[in-house]
Amino acid sequence: MTTFNVFRYDPAIDKCPKMETFDVKNERGMTVLEGLFYILENLDPTLCFRSSCRAAICGSCAMHINGQYRLACRTQIEHLKSDTVTVRPIAHSEIIKDLVVDMTNFFANLEKIKPYIINEGPFPEREFLQSEGERKGLDHLIDCILCGCCYGACPSAGTDEDYLGPHALMKTLRFINDPRDKGGKERLAFVSSENGVFRCHTVFNCQEVCPKDLDPSSAIARLKMKAVWNTLKNLVS
Ligand code: SF4
Ligand code: SF4
Ligand code: FES
Repeated sequence: MTTFNVFRYDPAIDKCPKMETFDVKNERGMTVLEGLFYILENLDPTLCFRSSCRAAICGSCAMHINGQYRLACRTQIEHLKSDTVTVRPIAHSEIIKDLVVDMTNFFANLEKIKPYIINEGPFPEREFLQSEGERKGLDHLIDCILCGCCYGACPSAGTDEDYLGPHALMKTLRFINDPRDKGGKERLAFVSSENGVFRCHTVFNCQEVCPKDLDPSSAIARLKMKAVWNTLKNLVS
């Protein structure tokens, strides 16, 4: 048996949040997500959490597990090396119920950076071809699954809901580095604004917690350098 300590809160009826304890029958290889399903199916059908792919692809099961942001579907209970599994929701977002948070702001910030190719043509007859080297330049930047772990761990996101956040800033570099995209200048100007790259204090929390081993903090540092370089160029021209 493993003890699950789970954050519970229903803003519609509860005055304040509480932690609730459940005994979960633990089998070898069981993940934290499977533990939560065990609770849902055997102990408390009112427990709320998100999940979909169960394969570390969709990003919906991100939560705070034993002191760190992780994907519940890819965290095996035995790897936590503890008799207790403590699960809390992602921070910096309003709680809808239990482990489910409102991701509206997270996705609204992503939308603000225009997460699609900007190119007004002329367009090729069939498709834009990309060389192997050009595609390589997008490696890692393109692999974000928008789980929100970095956003929950980011102190700047916690103190300023308008801060674009590590996920949106890294995505900006993904498009700036894509030769098919012609919106580089516009993008750089946008992220050089008050709620963009200079709100980041480079404390590397985002890099530390990313379950896909991506490095948003370095992406933001590269954007900062590009922004400064751009300003200098404008000053001397
Ligand atoms: S950068 Fe990593 S932690 Fe942040 S949303 Fe993308 S996959 Fe999740
Ligand atoms: S490095 Fe920047 S974006 Fe990443 S957690 Fe720190 S403040 Fe947030
Ligand atoms: S359920 Fe999709 S990433 Fe965990």
